[in-house]
Amino acid sequence: MPGLDHQGWPVDVRRRSVCRDDMAFMSKPIGPVIITVCTSCREAGVERADAPGRRLFESITAAAGDGIVVRPTQCLSVCKRVCTVSLSAEGGYTFLFGDLDPDRDAPAIVAMAAACGAADHGFVPWKERPEPLKRGIIARVPPPNWSPDDGGAPA
Ligand code: FES
Repeated sequence: MPGLDHQGWPVDVRRRSVCRDDMAFMSKPIGPVIITVCTSCREAGVERADAPGRRLFESITAAAGDGIVVRPTQCLSVCKRVCTVSLSAEGGYTFLFGDLDPDRDAPAIVAMAAACGAADHGFVPWKERPEPLKRGIIARVPPPNWSPDDGGAPA
């Protein structure tokens, strides 16, 4: 468990976010982009074993390359937007998407994850997102190390 600095930030996160020598590095997410896939997503009447969320997880796993981690989860609490995924990375924005097609959208999701990994603060503008992810956006959340005062990026 890391210690906290005087503002309540974990020491290792705060140090990395304010070290000016590392600013060019720090503007990109650190480590892999994580695609979290709800494997429970399914329409009413569909058995869990046949859940389209499970198919989406398998197709994303098959399509993902280096720098991307794919993990299953049981629910992302947007159950009416079948199928749902989130994209996250340390130092990067977190995105939540729904209304995804398990038989068609895996390449778009993987492309978005790769774009997040290469973008400043992991932020890919709406116009630059693959089409299914333009329609399916549910939420975007700034990285946890952004300012608790004004929500801005580390200066
Ligand atoms: S069952 Fe998929 S988000 Fe809840």
